[in-house]
This record gives sequence, C-alpha cells and structure tokens, in this order.
Amino acid sequence: MSGGDLLPSQRSLFDIPDDVAYLNCAYMSPLPKPSLAAGETGLQRKARPWTISSADFFVVSEAVRGLFAQMINASTDDVAFIPAASYGMAQAAHNISLTPGQTILTLAEQFPSNVYPWMDLAERSGAAFVSIPRPPDDDWTAGLLARIDAATGVVAIPHCHWTDGGLIDLKEVGAACRRVGAILCIDGTQSVGALPLDVKHVDPDFLCVASYKWLLGPYSLGFLYVAPRWHDARPIEHNWIARRDSEDFAGLVNYQREYQPGARRFDVGERSNFALMPVAKASLDLILGWTVPRIAATLRRRTDAIARRAQDEFGIGSVAAARRADHYLGLRFSRGIPADLPARLAANNVFVSVRGQAMRVTPHLWATDTDIERLFSTLQSVVR
Ligand SMILES: Cc1ncc(COP(=O)(O)O)c(C=O)c1O
Repeated sequence: MSGGDLLPSQRSLFDIPDDVAYLNCAYMSPLPKPSLAAGETGLQRKARPWTISSADFFVVSEAVRGLFAQMINASTDDVAFIPAASYGMAQAAHNISLTPGQTILTLAEQFPSNVYPWMDLAERSGAAFVSIPRPPDDDWTAGLLARIDAATGVVAIPHCHWTDGGLIDLKEVGAACRRVGAILCIDGTQSVGALPLDVKHVDPDFLCVASYKWLLGPYSLGFLYVAPRWHDARPIEHNWIARRDSEDFAGLVNYQREYQPGARRFDVGERSNFALMPVAKASLDLILGWTVPRIAATLRRRTDAIARRAQDEFGIGSVAAARRADHYLGLRFSRGIPADLPARLAANNVFVSVRGQAMRVTPHLWATDTDIERLFSTLQSVVR
C-alpha cells in the first residue's frame, strides 16, 4: 500500500486532550465522538420507552450484524451477538464433542477467555489441553503446524498474540485444520477491525470478537461468527428473540421450537441494547469507511517507526516486523521491564500496558507524532 493510501490523523473524532498520549488500544479504545453521541441518544430512548417500537428490537441489530459480516466477508446470517469473547467461546465449546486421545491446541500465555473454556472441555471429555510453548523465533505458525495432526480436535487461537502482536498465519492454520478435520476457533478481539481477516480464506468454525478494543465499540457487546456448518448447533441459552416469529410480540406465548435463521440462535439475551447497539453501529460505520486494510497499513507505519526507534535508541526489542501484526507492538526489555516504568509513563500522560514480558504500545488513528515524542522522552528519563 502506498503512502497516499494511508489515513490522516483522526484525532478530532476522539475526546483526547492534546497532552495525553493514549497508546493503549489493546487495553480499551476510546469511543469516537459519533459513537458516544449515538449511545447518548440510545440511552435517552430508555427514558421514554413509549418511543421504542417493536421494530426497534430488530432494525439496528440487523444493520449491525450486516456491518460486522461485511468486515470479515461473511453473510449477515453468520453473525451472532455476544456480551464477551468468553461467551462466544462457550457457545463453541458447548457444541464440540471430543474423546480421550484428542488434543486441544492453544498458545502459551494466550488470553484466558480463550483458555478456560478449553480447559473445561478437556476436563469434561478427557481430551488433552495443549499449550504450545512460545517459539524463540516468534514463529507461532510453524509451532502450530508442527502440532496439528490426526489427533487434533480443536485449535483455539488468536490472529495475533495479545502480549506482543506475534502473528499467526490463519490461512495456513485453517488449511491444516481442514486437512485433519480439526475445529478452528479464533479469538479476534485483538485484531478484527485493524487487521484484515476474510473468513472465506481462513474458514474458521467460530470467530469471536469483543468490540471495545479494535472495533472502537462499547464494552459488553461483541460478535460471534458461526460457520454455516454449525448453524444447527445448540445455543447455551434460550431467549425469546432468537426464536422464529419473535417479531410478533403478542404471539410470544405460542412457544416455538424453531429459531430465527442462521447464527441468530446464538444471540445473547437482551441483545437489542438500545444504548450500546447504536454505539457499535456508529463505530463500525467509521471503520468500514476508513477500510480495515488502510487502518492496518497506517498503523503498520506507526508501529514500525516506534519499534525501530526503541531498538536504535534504547536497544529495546520486539517481534520482527514480518512476524508481528501490523497494528500491534510489544516492547521487550532485555533486563526486564523496569518496575516503575508504566507508572512513570502514566504520570507523564503516556498510557501503555504490560502483559506478560511485553510492554504493549498500541496506538490507533488518534495518535500523533507528538504522542510518540512524549513516549520516547519519558522512556529517556526512565530507561537511561
Ligand atoms: C485476546 C483477548 N481476547 C478477549 C479479551 C476480552 O475477553 P472478554 O470479552 O471475554 O472479557 C481480551 C481482553 O484483553 C483479549 O486481549
């Protein structure tokens, strides 16, 4: 992608004071102003419920379902609403039967919402829970491909490691899963919205995404892509709106065995959240307008520049560019992260986060060169 295709700063869309360097999208994105306004309008409707019609339970949700589907090249019917990534993985694990002798593959130090459901499934089924050790060369893809075999029942992984952005080639892993009949469950919370993912290329069985990070969305509302081959599976809860004809409120007493089409059966109860759903819509509209490939290219330039400078000026390393997700950087200090570094940075209005052995520096389109100067000048005073 050429320089002309990169996006200009979008800081004016965010409520970030000039003297705040917020480099922590991996923790939580700030809400864009249009999303905040949409949420305020939505919340006000609850103060006047007579303005909420039965159609309102469906219209915005269906639009949001379609926008998320567009982002990952899925059909609207493949998308369900979830309150958290853990809920999405619970839907998947609830429907997967394994036997002793089979394995569940995960990565070392993976985020817990994509670990505990699989430990539980292993305990229930007798399958082995396997955590692939961190490869010294950060080549998670090779590590996974070496372990995927006829015994593999589930591969439960992210697109990039949440501690340092280490990238997994999902297309290759997806192909390996299909060769042996393994089920592929992806946690896209730290990537979807900022790193392109096409479900037609990867063919995951399930893909869950919490929206409060790279989707710039609200807390407590996320998405679950469910491959069509799982659309007949059993949801973990049974709510009225997921059943056929739920649009007819007067007829809800006519209990239905059938569900709404596609993945809608997996929707969390009370998914028609009048405050949060419009927030999600406004944020998805923004991202789709910018386009995910342009976001990735713009953030790649930013994170590469930070990585180079950290290495050149301070000898601080990170995952090599080719093995790192475009948008995601984790700095590695050869003698460990100085204990007071995050606090010293925060005291100077520089916001990053430490996870595992890495200090995550994850700017988004709001970040400016001034923010990066603030980061490095604070590092200068602490690390040198
Ligand atoms: C990789 C990853 N997945 C998921 C989450 C959030 O999980 P949940 O929505 O289950 O709270 C996080 C939060 O930091 C994360 O880093």
